[in-house]
Amino acid sequence: MAANYDNSAWFYDNLSRLVYGKALIKAQVYLLNMVPPGSKILIAGGGTGWILEELSKIHPGDLTITYVEVSANMLALSQKRKTGQNKVIFMNNAVENVNLDADFDVIITPFLFDNFLDETVDRVFNHLHRLLKPGGIWLNADFQLTGRWWQNVLLKSMFIFFRLLCGIEAGRLPAIEKRFNNAAYKIIDDKTFFGDFIVSRVYTRP
Ligand SMILES: C[S@@+](CC[C@H](N)C(=O)[O-])C[C@H]1O[C@@H](n2cnc3c(N)ncnc32)[C@H](O)[C@@H]1O
Repeated sequence: MAANYDNSAWFYDNLSRLVYGKALIKAQVYLLNMVPPGSKILIAGGGTGWILEELSKIHPGDLTITYVEVSANMLALSQKRKTGQNKVIFMNNAVENVNLDADFDVIITPFLFDNFLDETVDRVFNHLHRLLKPGGIWLNADFQLTGRWWQNVLLKSMFIFFRLLCGIEAGRLPAIEKRFNNAAYKIIDDKTFFGDFIVSRVYTRP
């Protein structure tokens, strides 16, 4: 079953801020600072779209952004965001199902992979990998477990909550790092947030 956040769109940002404060925002803004001027960008699973406003504060007018969200409610909220003079193409679909030209300079996956079982991770990863130019940048933010007991508690609670409400298929974190390693990506920068529970990584495609 696809992870569809339709039911949570109206309260998602408030809930995530209640639990994580500004950590989810900081983790993504850190990544957005790595976007080169004039980039052609693919954002997959951007949620309510606040990321578009943060990106447009850094680059007010020279970006071409394809924004793909599987949740129609999330997409509708995203379409109301201020995006400056940037060109934004909105698509309501699962990103692995959209046919796009394989010439993106930057791909952004903010808390996308933690929704999926391994087979979906592979499908989504391989699809996005094909769309990124050689030498392109992939910005990924996700949760990780670094051995602190409360991380497991929070993670399990999130999986149960979002499985009941939004039908997400995952019950544990996928080994996303392995996919990047296997495809010979290089980490050029990374940073952790919220006591190491969140990791933002900047990868370059070989
Ligand atoms: C955990 S939420 C994160 C939202 C946002 N990135 C944030 O940090 O606030 C995951 C988002 O990915 C979307 N999503 C899930 N599977 C998707 C897919 N296959 N293609 C595109 N979007 C997807 C969901 O609808 C949801 O909005």
